[in-house]
Amino acid sequence: MKLLFIGDVVGALGRDMVQEYLPKLKEKHRPHITVINGENAASGRGITEKIYRNFLEWGAQAVTMGNHTWDNRDIFNFIEEAKYLVRPANFPEGAPGEGMKFLKLNQLEIAVINLQARTFMSDLDCPFKKAEELVTMAQKRTPIIFVDFHGEATSEKQAMGWFLDGKVTAVVGTHTHVQTADNRILPAGTAYISDVGMTGPYDGVLGMERGAVLQRFLTSLPVRFEVPKEGRTLLSAILLEIDDKSGEAKKIERILINEDHPFYH
Ligand SMILES: [Fe+2]
Repeated sequence: MKLLFIGDVVGALGRDMVQEYLPKLKEKHRPHITVINGENAASGRGITEKIYRNFLEWGAQAVTMGNHTWDNRDIFNFIEEAKYLVRPANFPEGAPGEGMKFLKLNQLEIAVINLQARTFMSDLDCPFKKAEELVTMAQKRTPIIFVDFHGEATSEKQAMGWFLDGKVTAVVGTHTHVQTADNRILPAGTAYISDVGMTGPYDGVLGMERGAVLQRFLTSLPVRFEVPKEGRTLLSAILLEIDDKSGEAKKIERILINEDHPFYH
C-alpha cells in the first residue's frame, strides 16, 4: 500500500493548497491512506472542527497535531469525538484526545501515532518511552505503524528514527516547516525523514508574514506574527510505499510543489 503524508498546513493558503493539490496527488500517486499535519491550519495556530472536517472531505483519513494543538479553543469542542484526529501522545496524562488511532483499509489496519519532541520545546512526558509503550500496543494489531514526530531538533528526530527502526513503518519529522533532503529507509526497514516541510505561504518565514518576523529580529521588540492572506504557495509531502504483510517501508519519496518545483502529472 501507499501512504501520502502532507506536512504542516499553515493557514488559509495552506488549506487552499491541500484542496487544490490533494486530488491531483491522489490521481498521480494513488495513495491508499492520506494523513495531514494540521496543527497550524487555523491562522497558523491550532485547528477548528470545520477545518478538520474539510481535510477529511478533501480526502485525508487522519490529521496529526503538535505543539499548537490547544491554541484554537474550538479543539475542546470536538477533540473527544474526532475519530481521526491524533494529538501528541506524550502530553500529560488526562489531556483530551488520543495520541494513537487505528485506520481501517479493507483487511488492513494502520496505526497513526503522533509524538512531540522535547529539545527546545515544552517539557512533556518522554517521547521515547511513550513511543515504546504505544508501538508495543500497536504491534498486537498491525505491523503498519506510522509515526509523526513533531520536533525542533534534527538530532532528537534522528534518534527517534534509530530507536524505532525495524519496529515501525515510518518516522517522519514535522514542525520545522523546512523539508530536509535526508529521506531514506533505515537498515531494519523503517522509512525516515527529519522534516517533511510545510504547506502554505512560500514567501514568508516558516509560513508567517516576513515583515513582522524581520521586525522582531531587527528590534527584539514584541511583534505580532500573522499568516499572509495572499501570495505564492507551496505544498510539502512524502509518499511511502509499504509492504502490507511486514509493515516495512519500501520507498520514501519527497514531494515539493511550488513555483520553483512545479507539479507535473
Ligand atoms: Fe509545530
